[in-house]
Amino acid sequence: MPVREVDATPYAASLIEGHRDFGYGLETALADVIDNSITAGATTLQLFANTADEEPYVALADNGSGMAESELIDAMRLGSKNPSDERPAKDLGRFGLGLKSASFSQCRRLSVITRRDGGASCARWDLDRVASRNDWSLELLDQLGGVTGADLLPEQGTVVVWEKLDRLMGGFSQDRNKRTRHINAELARAERHLRLVFHRFLEGKKPPLKIYLNGRALDPIDPMCSYHPATQRDPEEVIQLRNGNVRIRCYTLPHHKKMTLDEWEEVGGPEGHLKSQGLYIYRENRLIIAGGWLGLARQTELTKLCRISVDIPNTMDADWKIDVRKASAQLPPLVRERLKKVVERFVGTSKRTYRSRGQKLVDQTRHPIWNRVQKEGQITFSPNPDHPVFRKYAEQLPEELKAGFYQCIRLIGAGLPIETLHAELTGNAEMVVAEHPHEEDLRQMVYSMADTLLSSGLTIDEVSQTLQSLPVLRDNWYVAKKLIEDFSSQALSR
Ligand SMILES: Nc1ncnc2c1ncn2[C@@H]1O[C@H](COP(=O)(O)OP(=O)(O)OP(=O)(O)O)[C@@H](O)[C@H]1O
Ligand SMILES: [Mg+2]
Repeated sequence: MPVREVDATPYAASLIEGHRDFGYGLETALADVIDNSITAGATTLQLFANTADEEPYVALADNGSGMAESELIDAMRLGSKNPSDERPAKDLGRFGLGLKSASFSQCRRLSVITRRDGGASCARWDLDRVASRNDWSLELLDQLGGVTGADLLPEQGTVVVWEKLDRLMGGFSQDRNKRTRHINAELARAERHLRLVFHRFLEGKKPPLKIYLNGRALDPIDPMCSYHPATQRDPEEVIQLRNGNVRIRCYTLPHHKKMTLDEWEEVGGPEGHLKSQGLYIYRENRLIIAGGWLGLARQTELTKLCRISVDIPNTMDADWKIDVRKASAQLPPLVRERLKKVVERFVGTSKRTYRSRGQKLVDQTRHPIWNRVQKEGQITFSPNPDHPVFRKYAEQLPEELKAGFYQCIRLIGAGLPIETLHAELTGNAEMVVAEHPHEEDLRQMVYSMADTLLSSGLTIDEVSQTLQSLPVLRDNWYVAKKLIEDFSSQALSR
């Protein structure tokens, strides 16, 4: 069969515009450019965002290997490397696209200035120029004077500069104030992302890295809270596969009461703990997926402290279907099977611990205000009519009012707003608190309970210890302590 050949070179103008929409946000775009710096061996990154300027720009300067001019030209080429080529370990790249597609997702002008062995070079893609010429000719700038970001170039290293930030302006290009506010808000979100995604590098481990945003050093956010003494860290498990090893470790974060509010909020992130539980997948130590169970479990309140780190090498990229942004992946079937078992075991244990913790909290309290009753597969909570406060009060009532009083108490139990509580507790458990009791109520409680405990044969010291273990008193300990001391001194002087 005769075959004719025709030239079907892609149209530069439309293809390059198409590379703007790979789904990057500012945060994933910056992370992709930073990947390149890490691969180039950088130890320090200076990220400058000039947001208030008439012509705002973003520049990222690294002290990595830098590039010779021929390498720079190659680096600027779309598809500069083949995704099927083997990469050295620790190389965070794969497609030969990231630098360009990440940059174009935010700006219309990308300049890369680089220096190696003394000689500096600069290359630029300007999408307006490509649109008008419709060809692939890259601009090389021989004079660095006047080039934005050139002053940031170190002895050796690379500066990536984004100008004409049409996307980042969020449609506010005419209103400078709104524009600046919008870019700053985006930057704040991106900052958190970078602190999380590169946390292992920022922690000074593998390899150490410092990132400065407008001169301010970024601290790592460790989603596993592994620095915290109350974090539970299970032993590592390794899945050996043809293309490399997958390393898995389960973590249980500390209960929110064991953390400061700032720590709790930081690891919970803007989406909160419920949504942040799940798998944390690292590719060559760089976080690519943060939370969610990828279909292996449900995100429940009882498992919201569960996180599992999964480490994969770059040799498994094809199996994991890593995308250009390095922000999504799919579990290969073999890993899925093994991981499912780990997740089921871990999540199951966590649920049991949580449930028995709740049960223990009630059962261990002497004279609880609420009883927890488990019967015929159902769990109910009802006010304890034998509680000393209720009993002592009822004793003082005339006979005809007693039944009515106990009826009121039972009604409180029957009217417990389970569904509302459940809805509120899902996602916001730590925000739901018991009402603050009046000092008079606490006094009533301390005195009734202490009387009952004393008459059951306990010493003053034992009474005081028992009172300390009661949730209501423990949670209002500042006031309760004083009341207990008053009671003790009165009892002793009797
Ligand atoms: N900061 C840098 N320092 C040194 N070389 C760099 C730097 N940024 C990019 N390069 C070179 O440019 C090439 C192209 O980068 P680009 O991000 O487009 O693709 P990649 O990193 O190879 O793969 P991916 O598309 O997965 O990111 C890199 O492979 C690297 O050789
Ligand atoms: Mg890259």
